[in-house]
Amino acid sequence: MKLAVIADIHGNVDALQAVLRDIKREGVDQIINLGDHFSGPLDAGGTADLLIGSDMRSIRGNHDRWLLEQSAAEMGPSDRVAAAQLDEKHIAWLSNLPTSLTIENDIFACHGTPDSDLTYWMETVHSDGSTGIADKNHIEKKACDIDASLMLCGHTHIPRLMRLADGRLLLNPGSVGCPAYSDTAPVYHSMQTGTPDACYAIAEKSDKNWFVSIRNVPYNSNRMAALAHKNERSDWASAVATGWLE
Ligand SMILES: [Fe+2]
Repeated sequence: MKLAVIADIHGNVDALQAVLRDIKREGVDQIINLGDHFSGPLDAGGTADLLIGSDMRSIRGNHDRWLLEQSAAEMGPSDRVAAAQLDEKHIAWLSNLPTSLTIENDIFACHGTPDSDLTYWMETVHSDGSTGIADKNHIEKKACDIDASLMLCGHTHIPRLMRLADGRLLLNPGSVGCPAYSDTAPVYHSMQTGTPDACYAIAEKSDKNWFVSIRNVPYNSNRMAALAHKNERSDWASAVATGWLE
């Protein structure tokens, strides 16, 4: 079983196309997509058209949930600009997605943690806004009810792999389309990968073990940066151009 794991596309259809080309070269049995597909000042509509026509297994992230639950007035600016690009069939596709997936009784996929699309699983935010690796007990505890040799999560945009005490693997493939962002909850903090590359992971099970590689895929992000500028989001323009916030 060879899987491609993608997450947090955030409307960056050019990064998604670069990743899909790379996945095709790799040759996989299945693509699993961990959500936050559209939100951002980029090309939500183009992303939606591409995802709807694909046969990947997708779940819903927190931003996808907000696109379904909130009115335009309630939305944050990144959700609002994406929502304006989505038509009825895009929204219908989104509403039919599950919030988690179990595949072949061996792989579990969620956006944040098994019980929340908003909680960071392997990262933590300290009270001063600095970020780092999460506490080992927090990580293990969130996995305690999951019967799967490979657990997948996204949401933090930081690629990371951990092997739990009992041998299970926990993998975050990083973000396809948004390599840096800031958030105000629980306190203001930023996540920055320092590269504009699109990021995803390949996981292959061989002889009962998972062999995992994180793939950084260079692509031309000029069109996405221009769209971010057009939507008056210089933070996003900097993120897709450099992997850093200004
Ligand atoms: Fe998210």
